[in-house]
Amino acid sequence: MDEKLIALRRDYLTATLDEVDVSPDPLEQFGVWMEQALAADVLDVEAMALATVSGDGTPSARVVLLRGYDARGFSFYTNYESSKGVDLAANPKCALVFHWREIERQVRIQGVAKRVDDEESEKYFATRPLGSQLGAWASRQSAVLDGRHELEQRWKALEIEHEGNEIPRPVFWGGYRVQPEMMEFWQGRRNRLHDRLRYLKTKDGWKLQRLAP
Ligand SMILES: Cc1cc2nc3c(=O)[nH]c(=O)nc-3n(C[C@H](O)[C@H](O)[C@H](O)COP(=O)(O)O)c2cc1C
Repeated sequence: MDEKLIALRRDYLTATLDEVDVSPDPLEQFGVWMEQALAADVLDVEAMALATVSGDGTPSARVVLLRGYDARGFSFYTNYESSKGVDLAANPKCALVFHWREIERQVRIQGVAKRVDDEESEKYFATRPLGSQLGAWASRQSAVLDGRHELEQRWKALEIEHEGNEIPRPVFWGGYRVQPEMMEFWQGRRNRLHDRLRYLKTKDGWKLQRLAP
């Protein structure tokens, strides 16, 4: 098959990003952008690509949902025995990317993932709908299945087994928090002359730099 070429499809015109307007703290700045993204009704605003690297150096990326952020970092929930869980156990360094296309923005984060403590995972698990709680038990995430029937049978059996009872959090399911060491804020601009502001964590605090687009 001949390569299908995709032409440049649009220019980015809606906003600018200036050093004097941003917070000295990238987590505070993330909060400002997240609020603006929410106000702009960005679809799937909490969806972020998570890139991990396995013990043998193979990279891999997938989308997960941001569940919370504060000065400590960015949290998401998953199966600790999934491919990403195995990667993070071997190498906790990882990257996150948000793309908020409606406001022509990207946020990139690099850092280190740590498991959130059990109590916090339990609290969050308890807020999830019953069906998802059973789903967490039913799915050996990233394992090969014989077919969809296997998953559904397991879910059904668990539903019967747990009927009327509270469902405990599986020990293999919980949160990670990514503690950022680098954060970059990208604002699309005309003629591909985009704004990129990068924060690097140093022993003296966060250092802000402008990068060429
Ligand atoms: C919009 C969206 C949100 C998702 N959110 C999560 C999530 O929060 N946690 C999760 O484990 N997987 C989530 N997934 C599924 C992952 O992308 C992925 O398929 C799964 O975690 C297995 O990844 P792994 O085999 O690399 O571990 C989401 C997928 C999409 C498209």
